[in-house]
Amino acid sequence: MCIFKQRILLCSHILLSLLVCTSISLGITKANAKDNQLKIVLGKQISPETLAAIDLTINPDGKNLPKGSGTPEQGAKVYAAKCASCHGPDGKGGKGLADPVVGGIGSLATKAPVKTVGSYWPFATTLFDYVRKAMPLDAPRSLSNDEVYAVSAYILQLNGIMKQGEVLNQTSLPKIKMPNRDGFVSKRPGYKH
Ligand code: HEC
Repeated sequence: MCIFKQRILLCSHILLSLLVCTSISLGITKANAKDNQLKIVLGKQISPETLAAIDLTINPDGKNLPKGSGTPEQGAKVYAAKCASCHGPDGKGGKGLADPVVGGIGSLATKAPVKTVGSYWPFATTLFDYVRKAMPLDAPRSLSNDEVYAVSAYILQLNGIMKQGEVLNQTSLPKIKMPNRDGFVSKRPGYKH
């Protein structure tokens, strides 16, 4: 490209930037003149319904847990229909299957540690949080809150952490003490399990 052409190109770029800047500042001045204050004109406030659909994180204190409940018996049905195809009929995973969700308790400090929800995860609230957001893998977010409580209760019962007939809900879930609760060390000062 000859120098002349390059200069024209440069000039047109500068002109374009100037035009853009002018129109942006004009936009702000217009808003200013109207209300005598700077208005944020991009986006709109999120509605409570939209926020509730994405505000799904459950911390160990269980504060954000939704209403609902389920027992291991109810969860067994959900598991058989929606989880067993990948995690195995008894939750132990297997060849070509997804991770086991049962077993390994007490194995972490051995030469053959088996990490599962039961043996490794320090908080039962994480099980609810994870299943609600991510499982079943082929249809995430398709379970009702009752189904998530129930299937979590079933997995906890398979791991010997809950008993048949017990109910998992907003109150009982955060109270569950997972076997590996004290196996994690927090680096956050002042943060206690
Ligand atoms: C289509 C296969 C598939 C189905 C169906 C499925 N899962 Fe999973 N699940 C996976 C895979 C794969 C992983 C590992 C995901 C990863 O590591 O990112 C996983 C991970 C998990 C974990 C975490 C395991 C760990 O120790 O990290 C849990 C808990 C779980 N699934 C529960 C369920 C439940 C409950 C259901 C039924 C409601 C279900 N899954 C249905 C494939 C599936």
